[in-house]
Amino acid sequence: MIFTVAIDGPAAAGKGTISRAVAERFGLAHLDTGLLYRAVGAIGGDPVAAARALRPEDLSRDGLRSLEAGQAASRVAAISEVRAALVEFQRRFARREGGAVLDGRDIGTVICPEAEVKLYVTASPEVRAHRRWLEVGGDETRVLAEVKERDARDMGRADAPLRPAEDAVLIDTTGMEIGAAVAAACAAVSARIGEGRG
Ligand code: DC
Repeated sequence: MIFTVAIDGPAAAGKGTISRAVAERFGLAHLDTGLLYRAVGAIGGDPVAAARALRPEDLSRDGLRSLEAGQAASRVAAISEVRAALVEFQRRFARREGGAVLDGRDIGTVICPEAEVKLYVTASPEVRAHRRWLEVGGDETRVLAEVKERDARDMGRADAPLRPAEDAVLIDTTGMEIGAAVAAACAAVSARIGEGRG
C-alpha cells in the first residue's frame, strides 16, 4: 500500500502529537521533516553542504528541540538549495511501501501534492506560544515573539512558503483538546484509507 498523510502547519500547532498518533493508529511510518532543517541548522558551517551531506544519525543530535534550533532551522529553510537537497529523501519516504505520515510546512503543497490525505493544523499564535512555553519555560513574551518571527519567515519565504494546500482539511486547535484534534485527524484518514483499516 502506498498511502501518504501530509500534515502541515505552523510551529506548536499540535502537528507532532497528531502525526505520531495517526502513524501509530494506522501503522504508518512517520517522518518529522522539521528535524531535517533543525539538524542542518545545528551542524553549522555552510548549510547547503550540510544539507547535501545529512545522515540519519544527524537527526538524533542533542538540542534539536530548542527554540534556538527552531530559529536556525527556519533560517536555513529559506535557502532554496537547502530545500532542494532534502526533497528526494522526503519524497521517497512519503511513497514508501506501507504508507507514511510526514509533518512539516510544505508536505501537501510541494513534497507530496499527490498525498491521499492532507491536513493543515493551526492555532492562534498566543495559544501556540503558551504551549511551547509550557515545554521550554523561560519568558513567555519572548516565546510569543519567536513564534511570530518564525511564522513570518516560514510564510513569507519565496520557496515553498507555509500555506494550506487547496484540498487540505483544516484543523484549528485553538480551543480544542489535543484528543479532539487527534480524533478529527484520524477521521479524515479513516475516510480515505479504506474499509477495515480504520
Ligand atoms: O516543525 P519544526 O518547528 O521542527 O520546523 C523547524 C523549521 O524548519 C520551521 O520553522 C521551518 C522549517 N521547515 C520547513 O521549512 N519545511 C518543513 N517541511 C519542515 C520544517
